[in-house]
Amino acid sequence: MNPPIPKIPLGSSGIQSSRLAYGCWRIAGAEGAPEPDNQQKKIGLNAIIAAFEAGFTLFDLADIYGAGWCEIIFGQALQEVPEMREKILIATKCGIRKPDTPAIGAPYRYDFSAEYILDSCDGSLKRMGVDHIDLYMLHRPDFLMDIQEVAKAFSKLQQSGKVSSFGVSNFTPTQVNLLQSALGSRLLVNQVEVHLLDPFTLTDGTLDQCQMNRITPMAWSPLAGGRLDVERFDYGADHELKAKATRLRSIMDPLAEKYRVTWAEIALAWLLKHPAKILPVIGSTQPKRIKMAATATDFEISREEWYSLLEPALGHRLP
Ligand SMILES: NC(=O)c1ccc[n+]([C@@H]2O[C@H](COP(=O)([O-])OP(=O)(O)OC[C@H]3O[C@@H](n4cnc5c(N)ncnc54)[C@H](OP(=O)(O)O)[C@@H]3O)[C@@H](O)[C@H]2O)c1
Repeated sequence: MNPPIPKIPLGSSGIQSSRLAYGCWRIAGAEGAPEPDNQQKKIGLNAIIAAFEAGFTLFDLADIYGAGWCEIIFGQALQEVPEMREKILIATKCGIRKPDTPAIGAPYRYDFSAEYILDSCDGSLKRMGVDHIDLYMLHRPDFLMDIQEVAKAFSKLQQSGKVSSFGVSNFTPTQVNLLQSALGSRLLVNQVEVHLLDPFTLTDGTLDQCQMNRITPMAWSPLAGGRLDVERFDYGADHELKAKATRLRSIMDPLAEKYRVTWAEIALAWLLKHPAKILPVIGSTQPKRIKMAATATDFEISREEWYSLLEPALGHRLP
């Protein structure tokens, strides 16, 4: 049996989360797929339950994942394992609107209007069959964000008990500052893309701000969405990407052997070592891999090993 996954506080709050989160984006099948069939729903249920049994206590969702099906399947898992709800934190997101919704001809867009945020939250609560969300995030920055309007919506959600705390996703540091300036409570997380194939948040100020202001950076696609799986990933004509992934793996694989893990846990250990306390969001739907990911918290790579992966990740030598 695995040792329990260690816990960390979320942002500047006292809320404790497992050091890794489980991401539910893929549990209803490929993005854009039709309604999942029973077999796909079972895969999703098994993945959630495997993550819970492995000690994950933070589950990441969004209203748009699987066109709502991911939240529905997640709600079914809560029914199947009733003791789960009080032991975990539910994180979900709103703010992205798909084309042709609610009316034909509407474009793909972001919407942080108070009305849309409030309606979206009700939709998520209903799909999951829960009475509150622990962490509610704005999915992608709305170019028309009116911070007073967002603050109004957040305060209504908090006062009604529907949401306990808030975060953002894919926000730049200035966008975080802008929104924070209107809020009465601290944003706890900024969920951003961070992985070895594109570690831009190391240099654009995102992780600096997280460390300085005690905002937890949740890392989405910590394994680059499978693109480090050089044996299986289909790179098509993107030879440059394949070469970069192959170069990284030539350093990761001997480390995996040394620590008796797989390359995936080395990718996670690289994120976990960062002092901003990056919280990787695991996206595999295979129970064996989900459980294995938890072992990334059992060891720490050295400063030298971390840097040996940085140069191929950046794609150039350090000056
Ligand atoms: N906020 C945002 O804008 C945003 C955007 C994207 C994602 N997210 C969140 O981040 C979560 C994780 O994203 P992700 O799914 O792209 O993460 P990921 O962990 O980087 O990628 C998971 C993918 O890699 C594959 N994979 C290949 N080899 C693997 C191995 N050895 N171990 C584990 N997985 C392996 C998995 O396949 P198998 O399933 O076959 O293992 C799966 O298809 C999502 O579920 C979602 O919650 C947020």
